[in-house]
Amino acid sequence: MRDLEHLFKQNREWAESISQAQPGFFSQLSEQQAPEYLWIGCADSRVPANEIVGLLPGELFVHRNVANLVIHTDFNCLSVIEYAVSVLKVRHIIVCGHYGCGGVRTAFGGNRLGLIDNWLRHIRDLQERHRSELDAIADEEQRIDRLCELNVIAGVRHVSQTTMVESAWREGRGLVVHGWIYSLKDGLIRDLKVDVANQAAADALQGITN
Ligand code: CO
Repeated sequence: MRDLEHLFKQNREWAESISQAQPGFFSQLSEQQAPEYLWIGCADSRVPANEIVGLLPGELFVHRNVANLVIHTDFNCLSVIEYAVSVLKVRHIIVCGHYGCGGVRTAFGGNRLGLIDNWLRHIRDLQERHRSELDAIADEEQRIDRLCELNVIAGVRHVSQTTMVESAWREGRGLVVHGWIYSLKDGLIRDLKVDVANQAAADALQGITN
């Protein structure tokens, strides 16, 4: 426990600095949360969701996993999406990948690590579907970065195909799914411009990324 004492100290300092800047912040926030955004990102420690978009506690609903995958049968991710869409009624779902993703790199290289190989198999499937495009890129790092982008676009497509998101659109609710990618090298986010705001756009994206 003594090894982690600095984390408790930093936590007290963090809570105090927020309370000083905004008295009553935590007691108000404890009553309810009303975030406008759901963030689906990589578990990588270098991509901390709230920090890189400058949002405070209460402003961003977050789901993170290795390589920011959105899989049709992952009930963890699906439950987060359902809660965000049906209960919190977020207006934006952001799938944010990052260049140099270790999960994508491992999948790309076909390295064997264990259980996680099965999780990363989804990226290898994507790699095979886009083999001709990827093979045309001479530099290997650029090829991996393109696969990181394709993985985000696939994530956007999969979010758009969930029953929860389709239902929200059928009800005429304003809900937009976005695909972004973050660079570890400069701390900046790029918009992949694959926004999906309705069923027609979701159907169009399906054709592009299959
Ligand atoms: Co990653």
